[in-house]
Amino acid sequence: MYLFSGNQTRKLAKLGIAFMVVGHVAVAQQANTVQLAPTRSDITISKHIYGHFAEHLGRCIYDGFYVGEGNTSVPHTEGIRNDVIEALKKLNIPNLRWPGGCFADTYHWKDGIGPKDNRPTIVNTWWGGVTEDNSFGTHDFLNMCELLGTEPYLAGNVASVEVQELADWVQYVNHAGKSPMADLRRENGREKPWNVTYWGVGNEAWGCGGNMTPDYYADVYRRYATFMANWNNSGGVFRIASGANSSDYNWTETLMKKIPHQLLEGVALHHYAVIDWQEKGPSTTFSDEEYFKTMKSAWHMEELVTKHSAIMDKYDTEKKVALVVDEWGGWYDVEPETNPGFLFQQNTMRDAMIAGITLNIFHNHAERVRMANLAQTINVLQAVILTEGNKLLLTPTYHVMEMYKVHQDATLIPVTVNCSDYVFGEEKLPAVSVSASVDSLGKTHVSLTNIHPNTTQAVELSLDKVYGKAAGRILTSANLRDFNSFDNPDKIKPSVFDGASLKGDKLSVALPPFSVVVLELE
Ligand code: AHR
Repeated sequence: MYLFSGNQTRKLAKLGIAFMVVGHVAVAQQANTVQLAPTRSDITISKHIYGHFAEHLGRCIYDGFYVGEGNTSVPHTEGIRNDVIEALKKLNIPNLRWPGGCFADTYHWKDGIGPKDNRPTIVNTWWGGVTEDNSFGTHDFLNMCELLGTEPYLAGNVASVEVQELADWVQYVNHAGKSPMADLRRENGREKPWNVTYWGVGNEAWGCGGNMTPDYYADVYRRYATFMANWNNSGGVFRIASGANSSDYNWTETLMKKIPHQLLEGVALHHYAVIDWQEKGPSTTFSDEEYFKTMKSAWHMEELVTKHSAIMDKYDTEKKVALVVDEWGGWYDVEPETNPGFLFQQNTMRDAMIAGITLNIFHNHAERVRMANLAQTINVLQAVILTEGNKLLLTPTYHVMEMYKVHQDATLIPVTVNCSDYVFGEEKLPAVSVSASVDSLGKTHVSLTNIHPNTTQAVELSLDKVYGKAAGRILTSANLRDFNSFDNPDKIKPSVFDGASLKGDKLSVALPPFSVVVLELE
């Protein structure tokens, strides 16, 4: 069963209060009420909740971000695709995690610096067993972050290297003065440090990152974090401990208890919306049951962040340590005839639903959830971009991230939601997910997602004050299983929403089945 945050409660649905006609189908409208808190919170929705993740996995880096400096068929800047730069800039991506994932704990950063012809190769043992030529390394990544206007989040190896290797990496990228690593950086063509703030201290230490116990990892963390000195002279490093696998609450408890908090700025959490790790199901031709199960797993994030936050509250009443959900998203079977180790999957309206409800969950828990990373940016898992040769398409997930970006660094308006059920067999889920915020210009934004596959939801909102204007956009499509393809890249894209009517402090919204709506109120 699901738990909801204090400000998000549910009542049993009052079914079938009205009917409307969509196409040729009469669809029951269900009643939902939402109350926006009339008094301002002092909680900021950190822009870092909108982070992304780029691993050396399949075609994420190579073919995705990077086509090589010598490429003549895809327009690029220093090897980075121009179309990717343009698309990601529009998302205002606040941070980008690299080089993994599981790959991170096999990565030797010194293999990826210096003249490209001299770089050693390694085998990417986690992802397809392909040969990694290290042509995309530290300089390539950090310079790319500058092009994208995003902050790098480097995931350090703590499982297969000694402390010195990670300490050297911090010094190499962050030290302004004279030192062995800073001098090496200069030899490789970069005078100024990049001042990298965000650092992962290992990844999935309970699994691919060393199969450690939480107690053992807590000790490893303490050691490595101690030597990640503050070389950047500008605010310090933000160290993120490798966090729990979904509902492994003992992991979070152990870390919070055993790691001195002066060594710890964030604790991670990984949770994928997956039906069953053995039978994940197809990305586009999923059954109604598979859709329900995916939504159930996505909604599970609500319970996870509630419970992990409660554990963190016990040890950190001032909420100094952030909960960092640095891997989330839908995970399905790979597309037929693609390398199983490359995790390439299509992206439908189901993925838009995952993004819509997950981001709302993060907003509503913004006091503790202050950073997150969708897995992954390009051509891997729930990607925002797919590429094929010199073609690029934006997925439904991209459009949700773009529509929701108005919440970045805005002040949370807590909401109380009483909503209808999406019933499947004996089980049910909340049909509607909502969050709201007010930005620095005083504009209020409300984002609403209706995951019900065939019922329009009538939502009555009691607003925090009287407004004069409501306008917004909607993302939906004719079919839940629709996706953008290279033949039809704009099949799914946002359009103007005309289903909202405002009267003073009351707003009525008709949310079509499987839709995401973002409204601006002035
Ligand atoms: O995102 C793909 C993989 O999922 C990551 O490498 C790993 O951390 C997780 O298990």
